[in-house]
Amino acid sequence: MKLSRMTFTKLLALVAIVLCSFASTSRASPLDPERYLLVEAEPRAQLEDYRLNDDVWPTHYDIEIKPYLEAETGKQAFTFDGNTKITVKTEKQGVAQIKLHIARMEITSWSVVRKSDNNVVQTLTEIYDAETEVLTIPLASGVTLQANTEYLLSFTYIGNMDDDMHGFYRSYYLLNGEKVWLGSTQFEQTHARRAFPCFDEPRFKATFQLKINHKTPQYSVYSNTPIVIASPSESGRTLTTFGITPSMSSYLVAFIVAPYEINQREQMGILARPQAQNQTQYSLDEGIKLLKALDDWIDYPYSSVPEMPRMYMAAVPDFSAGAMENWGLLTYREANILYRSDDSTSLQQQRIATVISHEIAHQWFGDLLTCEWWDVTWLNEGFARYCEYFATALVEPSWELEHQFVVEQVQSAMQMDSLITTHPMTHPVYTQAQASAIFDNISYNKGAVVLRMMEHFMTPSTFLTALRAYVKENAYKSVRPAHLFDALNRYNPNARMYMEPWTVQPGYPLVTVTSNDNGFTITQKRFLVNEPTHTDATMWPLPLTYATNANEFSNTTPTFVMTASYNIPMADASNVQYFILNKQQVGYYRVNYDAALWGKISNALHSEDFGGIHVLNRAQLVDDLFNLARGDIVPYGTALDILEYLKHETEYAPWLAAVNGLTTLSRRIHAEDEELFTIHILDIFAKAYDTVKFQAPSPTERRVFTYMRQNVLKWACNYGHEACSKAAVAEFERFYANPSVKVHPDLRQVVYCEGIRKGTQAHFEFLWNQYLTSNMATEQILILQGMGCASTYELISIMMDAIASEHVRSQDKSNAYTYIINNQYTLPHVSRYLQLNHAIWAAGHGSYLSVASAFNNLLARLKSDSERDTISAFIETNKNTLGQAAYDSIKNGLTEYETNKQFTMRNRDEISTFLKKKANGGAGAVFANVSMIVSLLVLVVCRW
Ligand SMILES: *[C@@H]1O[C@H](CO)[C@@H](O)[C@H](O)[C@H]1NC(C)=O
Ligand SMILES: *[C@@H]1O[C@H](CO)[C@@H](O)[C@H](O)[C@H]1NC(C)=O
Ligand SMILES: [Zn+2]
Repeated sequence: MKLSRMTFTKLLALVAIVLCSFASTSRASPLDPERYLLVEAEPRAQLEDYRLNDDVWPTHYDIEIKPYLEAETGKQAFTFDGNTKITVKTEKQGVAQIKLHIARMEITSWSVVRKSDNNVVQTLTEIYDAETEVLTIPLASGVTLQANTEYLLSFTYIGNMDDDMHGFYRSYYLLNGEKVWLGSTQFEQTHARRAFPCFDEPRFKATFQLKINHKTPQYSVYSNTPIVIASPSESGRTLTTFGITPSMSSYLVAFIVAPYEINQREQMGILARPQAQNQTQYSLDEGIKLLKALDDWIDYPYSSVPEMPRMYMAAVPDFSAGAMENWGLLTYREANILYRSDDSTSLQQQRIATVISHEIAHQWFGDLLTCEWWDVTWLNEGFARYCEYFATALVEPSWELEHQFVVEQVQSAMQMDSLITTHPMTHPVYTQAQASAIFDNISYNKGAVVLRMMEHFMTPSTFLTALRAYVKENAYKSVRPAHLFDALNRYNPNARMYMEPWTVQPGYPLVTVTSNDNGFTITQKRFLVNEPTHTDATMWPLPLTYATNANEFSNTTPTFVMTASYNIPMADASNVQYFILNKQQVGYYRVNYDAALWGKISNALHSEDFGGIHVLNRAQLVDDLFNLARGDIVPYGTALDILEYLKHETEYAPWLAAVNGLTTLSRRIHAEDEELFTIHILDIFAKAYDTVKFQAPSPTERRVFTYMRQNVLKWACNYGHEACSKAAVAEFERFYANPSVKVHPDLRQVVYCEGIRKGTQAHFEFLWNQYLTSNMATEQILILQGMGCASTYELISIMMDAIASEHVRSQDKSNAYTYIINNQYTLPHVSRYLQLNHAIWAAGHGSYLSVASAFNNLLARLKSDSERDTISAFIETNKNTLGQAAYDSIKNGLTEYETNKQFTMRNRDEISTFLKKKANGGAGAVFANVSMIVSLLVLVVCRW
């Protein structure tokens, strides 16, 4: 197949399809920004109105769903008939109304009866608030519910299978070029109410019994529990009844109607489209191992919940999140569960194992015991993220996940948490948008980091004992942080005092160490990267550990210090080899040192074996130096001088910290200093490149070494390393000539990227054709990464058209776009494309807000005032087309651009002095070699 620009008629057809499919739910056009406004500016109702009160509680739901995946007489395609009966009761006197949630459904009839005798309860007209999605059923004047009496709420309704990956939604896969439709669910956080009326808050636990009336034999059905009975209902349909679930939250209900097949063994089954069955073996084997490991670790076997005799994990082609922990029916993006060793990278394999571990961990932390409300989402997600690393490590000890955790979780949590806009882990939320927004790096990463901090404080075995008690005591209940603290405190009376402040205060401290004659003085102050002179006086209980030589890094049990200033006495303080605080970065804070101490650390890093400094503390030093420089605490010149040690670094964790820091820095390097920066990059990566070499992983190398190679090759090739580029292009040409012999998966990213960057349109079309014909989601992602390296306007516009088209699924669009703009040289081309084709982009993504977000992501990387001016002129000319929300959003993006530019201007001298000194000094030879490549790379004119 050959790719062409989408014609205008095709585009119109696409818009028409989108319009038709929404006609039943909403009259809003797909381009109406309101419809897709995910993050509302202002809640439109009183905050309390978004919450249900606790007058009436559900105890059981009987739900019957009859989906129409194609139109039938009197039935539109992608709708379903629903019938839901909810048993409720109240313990209060005088309850005169019932409130619950519904969304995007049309109720055809409803009633309230007393269960014991079917007596109808007289009610008034129902009231629906479309903003809060709360349905209020007022009882007739003078009528109240009897306390402790069961009532039955019955609803008959028509629901919609939307294509936005929420509620009971539609998805498809291609078979011989034809779409095969299926239905799947995603209810977290507030979307169960689209499939059935419900008390859609996690604390309202109830049992559920589901029946699905579906077409047979085309479709199979799956839900949380096993099938109890399936009987023919009418011609061509079957009514399938599932077992009653345990008492659980509405957001954990799930069902799938799809022509799937199953690969199963023991108590585990992997569900996938038939053509992907030969990609399911790994997740089946790994899933079985992970479930066993977690069963033992938590000491509360999954199957001890009687309703859950088996676990199903399903691969869904369209999926909004990465995966979802529905009790007994876990759902995943295909790329997070389908694997083949000959087609997926080592990192993709690790991603699959860790995502499975995350979702299995949720079967306890989330499903069995559930956060009471989304303000304490971290009680679900912090534990699941923790298990992603530490439970997977039980099964894959050679992957060094404990080390990866530090850079990927501790350091990335600190990024968001160093902004004034951050929030505490426990944080009030009310609206649907707020409930969705708290699923961020604070709930996940920081949640996991604080748990690890407590584990090291209490010791791993005591921590585990306390967690086991917490799980047993709170099974089938909803939990608040106090439940966790109570359990921890029973095993260590200081646990709550030390832990709680980290969960209720925003941010984290910068700890400053100064040496004196009798020891080291330690002070703390909140770290806010953009406000170095702030006066925020928040204090944290600080877990202190330190090392002064190679032998002292292993014991990570801290002493907590609760004072603003603290002195660590040490008789021969001035004679230590170095002083490093926060061993293995267990404590969640950054450290700054006085000049003398930084000098000692620098000497150690530049000496044999890095002076014995632990690899995780090297990663910590790298991340701290980049960020302390950014935050105006350490001069860039000093930071970059110390970081010269990276030339000799050969471990993954410090390198990963380095590429994160360098990515941010590269976006703030003055455009005229980019040649110098390139010399610097090629110089510090030179030895690492020679260490990893451009080659497939050897069977015996450490797993993290393979990951390190991927990073090093990517940076080397991106910055024009000649040998890297040559090797990558040669391998791409080889593949182009003989596609039946594939590129080694762990080299694909760099080979595809460099092959496309240096290649012709024919190469581009060749790889795109591989994308279209690939049966593997992981491979499609690698190809999108490669295609993002295209370097001409023509190819970049084809790519942008493809992203706007159906060929790139909604779930992949924003990543695919990021792959393009991560290459600086694409920015003017992308900007031009968006200005010319904003209508295509808006239609393909559903609204003009996506045009705004595309411009804003571009502006965050841009270094050209003239390009900024074109964007600014464009939004003024097209204000009406963009709409107010998109216009305002890009205006903000333009302000951000100015802020970034000021940052660059303020720091330029320090950085360029360092880069020039380096280019003129020791690195002269490098300069001669790379100057030619560099001048080729600098493609864009008039940048600042
Ligand atoms: C996996 O199955 C698909 C569809 O049945 C088939 O096209 C493909 O060649 C298989 N892959 C391998 C490596 O066997
Ligand atoms: C959140 O953390 C992930 C790693 O878990 C990181 O890739 C991402 O950039 C972080 N996001 C923000 C906004 O800091
Ligand atoms: Zn999760």
